[in-house]
Amino acid sequence: MELCPQSRQCYAVLKLLAIFVILGSLIDSRLVESREVENLQATEYSAINCRKHSAVLTDFGGVGDGKTSNTKAFKSAIEHLSKYASDGGAQLIVPPGKWLTGSFNLTSHFTLYLHKDAVILGSQDEADYPVVPPLPSYGVGRDAPDGRFASLIFGTNLTDVVVTGNNGTINGQGRPWWTKFKAKQLNYTRPYLLELMFSDQIQISNLTFIDSPSWNIHPIYCSNVIVKWLTILAPVDVPNTDGVNPDSCTNTLIEDCYIVSGDDCIAVKSGWDQYGIDVGMPTKQLAIRRLTCISPDSATVALGSEMSGGIQDVRVEDVTAIDTQSGVRIKTAIGRGGYVKDIFVRNMRMKTMYYVFWMTGAYGSHPGGKFDPKALPNITGINYKDMVAENVTYTARLDGIKNDPFTGICISNATITLAEKAKELQWNCTDISGVTSRVTPKPCAALPEKEIDCPYPEDKLPIEKVQLKTCSA
Ligand SMILES: *[C@@H]1O[C@H](CO)[C@@H](O)[C@H](O)[C@H]1NC(C)=O
Ligand SMILES: *[C@@H]1O[C@H](CO)[C@@H](O)[C@H](O)[C@H]1NC(C)=O
Ligand SMILES: *[C@@H]1O[C@H](CO)[C@@H](O)[C@H](O)[C@H]1NC(C)=O
Ligand SMILES: *[C@@H]1O[C@H](CO)[C@@H](O)[C@H](O)[C@H]1NC(C)=O
Ligand SMILES: *[C@@H]1O[C@H](CO)[C@@H](O)[C@H](O)[C@H]1NC(C)=O
Ligand SMILES: *[C@@H]1O[C@H](CO)[C@@H](O)[C@H](O)[C@H]1NC(C)=O
Ligand SMILES: *[C@@H]1O[C@H](CO)[C@@H](O)[C@H](O)[C@H]1NC(C)=O
Ligand SMILES: *[C@@H]1O[C@H](CO)[C@@H](O)[C@H](O)[C@H]1NC(C)=O
Ligand SMILES: *[C@@H]1O[C@H](CO)[C@@H](O)[C@H](O)[C@H]1NC(C)=O
Repeated sequence: MELCPQSRQCYAVLKLLAIFVILGSLIDSRLVESREVENLQATEYSAINCRKHSAVLTDFGGVGDGKTSNTKAFKSAIEHLSKYASDGGAQLIVPPGKWLTGSFNLTSHFTLYLHKDAVILGSQDEADYPVVPPLPSYGVGRDAPDGRFASLIFGTNLTDVVVTGNNGTINGQGRPWWTKFKAKQLNYTRPYLLELMFSDQIQISNLTFIDSPSWNIHPIYCSNVIVKWLTILAPVDVPNTDGVNPDSCTNTLIEDCYIVSGDDCIAVKSGWDQYGIDVGMPTKQLAIRRLTCISPDSATVALGSEMSGGIQDVRVEDVTAIDTQSGVRIKTAIGRGGYVKDIFVRNMRMKTMYYVFWMTGAYGSHPGGKFDPKALPNITGINYKDMVAENVTYTARLDGIKNDPFTGICISNATITLAEKAKELQWNCTDISGVTSRVTPKPCAALPEKEIDCPYPEDKLPIEKVQLKTCSA
C-alpha cells in the first residue's frame, strides 16, 4: 500500500492485482476479494501497518441485532484471516450494528476495525469466557486460584496487532459482573475488555470502551505499544474498572485519552510479591500525555501497588484531573521488592482533588502465599514540576517505609489552592527525603527548599518516534 499512498487509481490497480494473486485459492477467499473492491469507498485511518486483505464480519455469518451470538463469526473470521499473516496481513471490519459476542482471540499482522456505529457487546454469560491460567507474575493473589476468565478480546504471543475504528464502541455490559463480584459469587477473576500477552507492536486507538466487567485494557509482557485517542467510561462507583494497565511492558505510549473510572485511570504494574520478583519483568519506557481523568476514588496515574518486577522511566505530561482522589500516586508495601525509579511528571492541572501528592509504603495486600517480608521496594527519583491544583483537601501524604525510605523526591513550581474544608496538616511526611522549590503551601521539613527545577528527560522514547501510516477500511 505504501507504493501509492495518495492515488486512488493506482490503489485500485494494486487491489485488482491482489485479487488475481488470490484467485487461485478457495471459496473463502472470494469473501475477501469482494471486500477489496468495496474498499475503494473507504474511510481512512492511521495505523502502525496497513493490511493487504480485508473482510467484513457479516461475510462470516455475523448478525448485528444485539441478540444473536457472534462468537463463532469472530472466531471463523479471524481464523480465516490469520492465513494472510505472511501475505500482507488482513483487517476485519465490524460494520454498523450491535454485535453480541463472547471471548475471542486476535491473530498476528491483523487489524480489527470498528465502524463508528458498530458496538461490540460483551456477553454476560460466564460460559462465553474460557478459563485461562493465573498470570505468572501474579500467582493466585490477584487471580482466583483456579484461573481467570479470558478477556473479551484476547491475544497472546502475537506481533503487529491493531484494534481501531472511527470511534466504534466496545461495551462490556459489566453490571452483572460487578454485582456477582461484590456478592463473591465468581469462582474466577473477572474478564477484562482487551488483554494482550507476550506481544509486540500493538496499537489500540479511536475507540470507546464502556462498562468493562473489570480493567479495560491490559497489555502484559508486551513491547512497543501505542494506546491513543480512546474514550473509556465506567460508573465511578463500580469495582476495579481501571482504564489502561501497562503491566511488565517496555516502550509504551498512551496519549490523548479521556477516562472516567471507578478505579485508577491508568495503573502501571509489574507483578505481585514473590511471583513478580521471580518473573522480573519491569514496566519501563512509558510515556503518558494529554490524558483527562475523572476518578473520585482512585488515582490519575497509579504506580503499583503491584510493582515487584520494577517500574522505571515513566514520563507523564499535560494531564488534566478533575474530581479525582490523587495525582500520580505510588503504592507499594514491604514484601513487594522491586523498584519505582526515574519517574517524571510535568504540567498537570487538577481540580477538586483529595490528594495532589500521595505515596503509600504500607499498601498491604498479600493474598498470595509467596511473600518475603525481607523484600523491600526501592523507591527513588520521583520528580514533579509545573503542577497546578485547585480545591484540594490534602496537598501531600507521603508515607515511606521505616528503614527503607523513599528518596530523591523533587517537586518544583507547584501551586496548590485549598478547599474550604481542607485538612489542617497539609504535608504529612514520614520516611521520605528530597527537595522542593517554589511550592505552596509550604512543604514538610523532609523536603527542604532548594533553588532547583526538577528534571524531565529531553530525549524521546523509541515508541514516540513511530510514524503511523494512512490505511483505509
Ligand atoms: C484463546 O487463546 C487462549 C490461549 O491460547 C486459549 O486458552 C483460549 O481458549 C482461546 N480462546 C478462544 C475463545 O478460543
Ligand atoms: C508465549 O511466549 C512466552 C514468552 O516468550 C512463552 O513462554 C510461551 O511458551 C509462549 N506461548 C505460546 C503459546 O507460544
Ligand atoms: C482518530 O482520532 C483522532 C483524534 O480525535 C482524529 O483526528 C482521527 O480522525 C480519528 N480517526 C478516525 C479514523 O476516526
Ligand atoms: C466517541 O464516542 C464517545 C461516546 O459516544 C464520545 O463521548 C466521544 O466524544 C467520541 N469521540 C470522538 C472523537 O468523536
Ligand atoms: C463455584 O464453585 C463452587 C464450588 O465448586 C460451585 O458449587 C459453584 O457452582 C461454582 N459457581 C459457579 C458460578 O460456577
Ligand atoms: C470543591 O471540592 C469539594 C469536595 O472537597 C466539592 O464538594 C466542591 O463541589 C468543590 N467545589 C468546586 C467549586 O468545584
Ligand atoms: C535504589 O536504587 C538506586 C538507584 O538505582 C540505587 O542507587 C540505590 O542503591 C538503591 N537502593 C537500595 C536500598 O537498593
Ligand atoms: C509553572 O507551572 C505553570 C503550570 O504548568 C506554568 O504555566 C508556568 O510556566 C511554570 N513556571 C515556570 C517558571 O516554569
Ligand atoms: C500522618 O501520617 C502518619 C503516618 O502515616 C499517620 O499515622 C497520621 O495519622 C497522619 N496524620 C494526619 C493528621 O493525617
